[in-house]
Amino acid sequence: MSITQDTPVGTIAAEFPLATRVFARHQIDFCCGGGIPLITACAKKAIDVDKVLAELQAEIAPGAQNEESRWDQSPMPELIDHLLKAYHVPQLEELDRILAMTQKVHDVHGDKDQAMFDELLKTVTAMHTDLVGHFAKEEDEIFPALLSGKTDEETLAALECDHEEVGEMLRTIRRLTNDFTVPAAACNTWTALWHAFADIEQGLHMHIHLENNVLLPAARAAK
Ligand SMILES: [Fe+2]
Ligand SMILES: [Fe+2]
Repeated sequence: MSITQDTPVGTIAAEFPLATRVFARHQIDFCCGGGIPLITACAKKAIDVDKVLAELQAEIAPGAQNEESRWDQSPMPELIDHLLKAYHVPQLEELDRILAMTQKVHDVHGDKDQAMFDELLKTVTAMHTDLVGHFAKEEDEIFPALLSGKTDEETLAALECDHEEVGEMLRTIRRLTNDFTVPAAACNTWTALWHAFADIEQGLHMHIHLENNVLLPAARAAK
């Protein structure tokens, strides 16, 4: 596939995994907003589409790594196994750690910016609850149904809706933390928490991208 300004960003990310570096650099939403053309995604961020096209060409040119991680060319059981091992298991553990750290930093430093820390704790608590339930639903119901070919459009659409909500919570965390900028007065836990937010955002974007733009199209095509 050659990339043009009309290619959907999710398709680019699925076929050229290294392209996600360019999207992350410009905060272009390639997971929940994967269906929209590159030109529209760039316009949303007020970035020149030709500049992004040039960066994409530069990033994906050497090619080797793009081939290694082409999950869109893998059988569904392998993709699901990868989602579980590379994302569900470590992210569940990391979400527990992040919630505990958020609570701690909120309790110790809340008075430095009470409104921000209150909203942050509320958002992280909600995201933790939602994702624990979401991962369990995928593991216990949706993935087995996909593997046996028994799933319906309503279920798949609900999954995308869940992902949309997670995307919104991640945007809230990014906004509250001023793009994960560590304040000069931050202690070690506070600093570690801001770094953990940046990492989990990146990891969840990849996780959701693989489900929205690779797994679900494969499930729909198999019907
Ligand atoms: Fe998942
Ligand atoms: Fe999911």
